[in-house]
Amino acid sequence: MFRILVLHGPNLNLLGERETNVYGAVTLEEINKQLTEQAEELGASVEFFQSNHEGELIDKIHQARDRFDAIIINPGALTHYSYALRDALSAVSLLVIEVHLSNIYAREEWRHRSVIAPVVQGQISGFGPLSYSLALTAACELLKEGAKQR
Ligand code: DQA
Repeated sequence: MFRILVLHGPNLNLLGERETNVYGAVTLEEINKQLTEQAEELGASVEFFQSNHEGELIDKIHQARDRFDAIIINPGALTHYSYALRDALSAVSLLVIEVHLSNIYAREEWRHRSVIAPVVQGQISGFGPLSYSLALTAACELLKEGAKQR
């Protein structure tokens, strides 16, 4: 069974009440619940962690090294400037998928750059909660491919 860690960065705890015109009305809890159900169908297990603190996310990534097969991460605004988070993700040899609810390329100029993107397998941006769901499907497919090749 593939083990997948889902990390939510700063301010995502406020989903459902925060800028609902941009991020929608779905709460983080609802997103996590949907992912848990989807993971069950896919034969994977998911664990969730949200933090508003960069260092806590980095610690979690380090700890994930031998506990998980893949990380799905929405780094929030850290996406655009956290070299520390980027280095943590590239330090662990796990499959990593970056997700965003909003289309970061259709928003302010400063959101167009992700310092995380160069060290991940791929990025999914702009599909609301579906971004996470697509990432989970992709993670399972890629892990299956990898398992077959081994
Ligand atoms: C976000 C996009 C970021 O620019 C923003 O800072 C967030 C959420 C998204 O999911 O669309 O906090 O990562």
